[in-house]
Amino acid sequence: MAEILLGVTGGIAAYKSLDVLRMLQRHGHGVSVVMTHTAERFVGAASFAALSRREVGTTMFGDDDQPGYHHLDVNDGMDLMLVAPASANSIAQMASGMATNLLTSCYLAFRGPVVVAPAMNTSMWLHPATQRNIESLRAFGVHIIEPESGLLADGATGPGRLAEPTVIVDAVESVLRGVSHHGDLAGKQVLISAGGTREPIDAVRFVGNRSSGRMAWALAAAAHDRGAEVTVVQANVDLPREQGITYLDAPTAAEMREVCRAQFPGTDMLIMCAAVADYRPVDQRAGKLDKSAADSLTVQMERTTDILAELSALRDEQVLVGFAAEHGPEGLERARAKRVRKAVDMVVHNDAAVDGAAFEGPDNIITIIGPGDAELALPRMRKRQCADAILDAVLPLVSGGAPVTA
Ligand code: CTP
Repeated sequence: MAEILLGVTGGIAAYKSLDVLRMLQRHGHGVSVVMTHTAERFVGAASFAALSRREVGTTMFGDDDQPGYHHLDVNDGMDLMLVAPASANSIAQMASGMATNLLTSCYLAFRGPVVVAPAMNTSMWLHPATQRNIESLRAFGVHIIEPESGLLADGATGPGRLAEPTVIVDAVESVLRGVSHHGDLAGKQVLISAGGTREPIDAVRFVGNRSSGRMAWALAAAAHDRGAEVTVVQANVDLPREQGITYLDAPTAAEMREVCRAQFPGTDMLIMCAAVADYRPVDQRAGKLDKSAADSLTVQMERTTDILAELSALRDEQVLVGFAAEHGPEGLERARAKRVRKAVDMVVHNDAAVDGAAFEGPDNIITIIGPGDAELALPRMRKRQCADAILDAVLPLVSGGAPVTA
């Protein structure tokens, strides 16, 4: 169980941090709290002290009013820092490396993983300065828990509401799991395809699909946290990129095939998460199709190469994982058949018809099929948790150990 430093900054959502604290304790973690003076105007330090049964840090100066290294003492022994709620002002200070109070000093001196859950009104959240600061924190490796959309304290509706305590605690748990797995993929080269390819019809139109790239992004982050050298071959993903991960662009099936083939020989593990088009228009028309030319349009399509099957035939020692986003109850059987047909070690099945397992959402419901007859059906989880479960299952194969058990 971990020691967590909970930073509380000023905002109406500060009262929700009491719930977060209690939930973290219920998960068996020890929690120490630091607060800004503005946070104290919303919730008293005494409430946090009573629940945490620990002294609450509010000032850089000790009881004797001597400036010291209080922030270093506070950080001592802490496994993870969580800032919830994080105000626009505290985020700006953290992004620019300012250390004007105990909380921001703790952040600057903190060596472990940091999770930040912003909360503010919609205009402040959407302001380019805040968005830039969030990107800076992401680039520092901070895990951001996106605020939710809803009715805010100022009566407006929009993004900015603090994520629910359960979502915050889930995120903390998955980051902690990443830390506890730390290094188990060290020295391994992991290649992950992401997003959905777009096959051009003319200069402006394409045949595409709804894959957002979130599952692949979660896999890349999880593999990176576990020490792997991660390369993401991405098709049309519009998500923030993480420092330390290599991203290669491959917007069409043909480009994805080319990039994956080029990367494959030096790879220990390929996770083919991208939704690659099965068909593409035979000819890409020059310029833009003119609709006045005809009342109907036939676009002739041809099959693309199955990249996963092709690389499986070329493989040396590489471990191969495929995805199968199926629709309906027979999907699991189709996914099992896909694993055999494509001769891969593992196929991750999800049923896109089930609520909670959709393309764009934060969650997935997966069944990990293989190797052999092994199967692992998992409940609805955050994509990051799914990613860690997939890596846990595949790890024995990469290390040459025992296969996954159901
Ligand atoms: N895939 C691939 N190249 C393609 C199509 C799919 O590498 N041209 C990979 C996907 O990235 C995924 C797996 O194959 O890992 C399964 O994709 P899917 O489209 O579900 O499988 P298909 O073999 O195309 O089967 P279906 O007939 O269901 O479309």
